Amino acid sequence: MDHFNYQGGQLCAEDVPLSRIAVEVGTPVYVYSAATLTRHFGLFRQALDWTDHLVCFAVKANSNLAVLKLLGDLGAGMDVVSGGEYARAKAAGVPGDRIVFSGVGKTPAEMRMAIDGGIRQFNLESEPEMRALSALAASMGATVPVAVRVNPDVDAKTHEKIATGKSENKFGIPIARAREVYAEAAALPGLQVVGVDVHIGSQLTDLDPYRAAYAKVADLTRALRADGHAITRLDLGGGLGIPYRRDNNAPPLPIEYGQVIRDAVGDLGCEIEIEPGRNIVGNAGVLLSQVVYVKEGEGRDFLIVDAAMNDLLRPAMYGAHHDIVPLIEPAVGATVQPFDVVGPVCESGDTFQKGAELPAMAAGDLIAFRSAGAYGAVMASEYNSRPLVPEVLVSGDHFAVIRARPTFEEMLARDSIPEWL
Ligand code: LLP
Repeated sequence: MDHFNYQGGQLCAEDVPLSRIAVEVGTPVYVYSAATLTRHFGLFRQALDWTDHLVCFAVKANSNLAVLKLLGDLGAGMDVVSGGEYARAKAAGVPGDRIVFSGVGKTPAEMRMAIDGGIRQFNLESEPEMRALSALAASMGATVPVAVRVNPDVDAKTHEKIATGKSENKFGIPIARAREVYAEAAALPGLQVVGVDVHIGSQLTDLDPYRAAYAKVADLTRALRADGHAITRLDLGGGLGIPYRRDNNAPPLPIEYGQVIRDAVGDLGCEIEIEPGRNIVGNAGVLLSQVVYVKEGEGRDFLIVDAAMNDLLRPAMYGAHHDIVPLIEPAVGATVQPFDVVGPVCESGDTFQKGAELPAMAAGDLIAFRSAGAYGAVMASEYNSRPLVPEVLVSGDHFAVIRARPTFEEMLARDSIPEWL
């Protein structure tokens, strides 16, 4: 459930008509609903209320400071994968002891930043990284809590670009070698082994891969404890999918996911960490856009809109589907026709949807791409020198711009021409 519904014939975010935001802020623009964020975060907390837990929002899904502050104030932890994300989490007021540092290529500079600023745990992805962290922490006179990310060799049954738990993927340490790696970790200075970490992929719509992966984590935890390691935390990753099509079967709910966790690892008495991103913020955001032209093609009509692949990359990159809806509610029984909805960027890949069924459209009409709150704004670029897309947060009947659209002057000011040119 989200808070983007028609009221009085107008698509609204909570109680704000989206057309008002389009007029005041311009398009394209991302709009998020605070009530939806709050609700979705609460569902994960509720799903784990049977045990000690920390829901760490995966910052990569949406790293706007206002979004992080909202979630942080609700008690969320943060899962970060770069120095930049760490800086954002801290700037949003999240204390270091609620920040988990994941990612396959943490540099010594990023590790130092997190040790200095405070960190709940590092999720180690390789032995070289483990040795580098040990050397750094020891040189700083620090001891840092660590978990090792294990790769359980489980097929997450999702898009190949976002599956991470198979042995051919670059992530984690093969689970079969985990005991050896933990033995080394325990012997190294500067590290305190506290947990096991796993993440098998994103947009999972089936709970079976989780069952398989978490069963392996439970076995490993028992083996590690028998080896003498004090495993007190399990970080079970993120990845629970969301419905991208309104008319489709919905993926499992957080409460069902929580039950899978309980069944698999509930008897181990560990504190549970999870790292959901998309499920918290995906359906809490839409991308608003305006029709620039309706172009009659051969056998198809094109809706040329002012959003493009640089603003919302997912359709071009993954062939992803985002429902497209008009801001004015179509009359019941209104005739619809197929449009190819495209952006103005000079690539055929800049196509959001082929054959989208929409009512008659004209230049100036407004549309919304639904389910765009996760991996939307964060993956945006200035390709074709289109200024970075702005973001707005709605709460009740008011809204605020939480990232302004840069002017052309601001965009150009970041470049400099060497004096020898
Ligand atoms: N934890 C780790 C270690 C991750 O790598 C990810 C996502 C998450 C948590 C959060 O997963 P989520 O709950 O959001 O599914 N750009 C792609 C998605 C890439 C996901 C990468 N890792 C997309 O637009 O679909």
